Amino acid sequence: MASELERVMGERRSVRSFTDEAPPDDALERVLAAAITAPSASNKQPWRFFVVANRERIDAMAEAVKRAVERIAVHIPSESEAAFRRYGEYFVRFEAAPRVIVPIHRPQRALSHLVDAEIDSDLRERVTAMESDSGLVSTSLALMNLLLAAHETGLGASVMTGPLVAADELEQLLGVPPGWSIVALVPIGYPAEQPASPGRKPLDKAIRWLR
Ligand SMILES: Cc1cc2nc3c(=O)[nH]c(=O)nc-3n(C[C@H](O)[C@H](O)[C@H](O)COP(=O)(O)O)c2cc1C
Repeated sequence: MASELERVMGERRSVRSFTDEAPPDDALERVLAAAITAPSASNKQPWRFFVVANRERIDAMAEAVKRAVERIAVHIPSESEAAFRRYGEYFVRFEAAPRVIVPIHRPQRALSHLVDAEIDSDLRERVTAMESDSGLVSTSLALMNLLLAAHETGLGASVMTGPLVAADELEQLLGVPPGWSIVALVPIGYPAEQPASPGRKPLDKAIRWLR
């Protein structure tokens, strides 16, 4: 029999359509409290969460993403343009939400400031990439918690990285501090849809046992 946790994990869906009712601040704080129980590299908790609770600002974010999609569309071959524009609409779905959570992360910086100038440049790059990935992975784990907690408390949400085609403009609009980067946009609210599962590949396609 599935555990309670397995039930919640199995039921959760990416929600992209919302009622007009804005969730109360304490409901959002509850899912964010669940988010930050996530593990993080060296327990650095390299995340912050902006909660965008202002319609004009959400609209301005959506406009920035639409402009970036237009700038990209110019460089898509004409036979693929219609498909790209449909894909571009998928980047702007956060527009429909009453609230948008914006998780940001920063690199972990535990090792790169310790290594001396003689280190091989490839190895230095690996260290830097590891530090950046550690911040990103930690914040992604927090996002999974957030999605599960949202579902469990009757909210709907999804994680969207498509809007990051406009990451520079979004960072400016939101006042993201130097050294930090947006991980995704997370529209959240009361669901106005109950999406069916898009399914998963069979487990044996996802696993490689190395015995
Ligand atoms: C890293 C990541 C990026 C995603 N980006 C988008 C996006 O830009 N727009 C969108 O509508 N959904 C986005 N999604 C949601 C996925 O489409 C969704 O998780 C997937 O289709 C599986 O559906 P489910 O979450 O309901 O199981 C993203 C999901 C992840 C994990």
